[in-house]
Amino acid sequence: MSQKFTASAPANIALIKYWGKRDAKLFLPYNSSFSVTLGGLKTITTVQFLAELSQDELSLNGSVLSSKEKQYVKIERFLNLIRRRAKSKLKARVVSENNFPTGAGLASSASGFAALALAGSRAAGLKMSSRRLSILARQGSGSAARSIYGGFVEWRRGVRGDGLDSYSRQVFNESYWPEFRIIAVTVSKLVKAVSSSEGMANTIKTSPFYKFWPKRAARDLKVILKAVREKKFSLLGEIAETNALTMHALMLTARPPLLYFLPATISIINKIHELREKGMSVYFTIDAGPQVKIICLEKNVKVIRAEMLRIHGVEEARVCQIGGGAKLISRHLF
Ligand code: PMV
Repeated sequence: MSQKFTASAPANIALIKYWGKRDAKLFLPYNSSFSVTLGGLKTITTVQFLAELSQDELSLNGSVLSSKEKQYVKIERFLNLIRRRAKSKLKARVVSENNFPTGAGLASSASGFAALALAGSRAAGLKMSSRRLSILARQGSGSAARSIYGGFVEWRRGVRGDGLDSYSRQVFNESYWPEFRIIAVTVSKLVKAVSSSEGMANTIKTSPFYKFWPKRAARDLKVILKAVREKKFSLLGEIAETNALTMHALMLTARPPLLYFLPATISIINKIHELREKGMSVYFTIDAGPQVKIICLEKNVKVIRAEMLRIHGVEEARVCQIGGGAKLISRHLF
């Protein structure tokens, strides 16, 4: 029997998106990406490896996963990476909980695999550096490579075939920009129909514009790093918003086209543009789902949130400060 470990890991929202794998097995991206860690949105995961188990026992948000489910297979595959590294054959009991909707474009896979990487590696007797944890988490879900760290985080694509140079680093920590806020606006809690992995693969294969994406993302990254360094909020917002829309434009030009927006998503976009026309510095970004993350400053939060809650179809608007990184905690889930 191994010791039980519990980790908490944050969700993150990409301001420069990762879209496209150059190696689907190792989760190596075509482009580097950049995110901000979301305070308050997190996954908590407890892991223990036990001789008495004949297969992994996985429970997610209160329901036990059957070994036929896609999620189960993904997590088992990830646990195999840990077992291989720890030279162990023991199966694991994993209990995991998110404090936000799962699989609907709120980055649950990022926080989920970051928490599993940390708790799982420790439970298997491994003590990995943050860099190693980022490399491990990446192989569960690309964006999880960024959820190891708090603050502003860059995931460098790397160039090696083995992926050992494809990991994240913290650019600025969570105290760097105290006025910075993200409002996570939920318009649907349903699990999305097309996963980001499927969406990426399809976009690469069929969008005539994908070939322009890696260069464009690299240029956007350069500008946003400067904007963060100089605390130029409007520049940061503009680049993040354009980058997200560019990614969605790629999806729209894939065959079959991939459209994640719901009517409420469009209403939110229009409202943000309206507020901007009135002089407010407010921007948005959208991942592979219908939810919108609003990028704004603390002084405008109240007005923006009230406007959002007035929009038909908006279910929730959660205000997040910049959060800290993944960490071990002592409150176990079993
Ligand atoms: O890590 P995945 O497979 O969930 O892909 C994430 C893709 C986006 O959320 C759309 C962009 C990103 O960089 O997080």
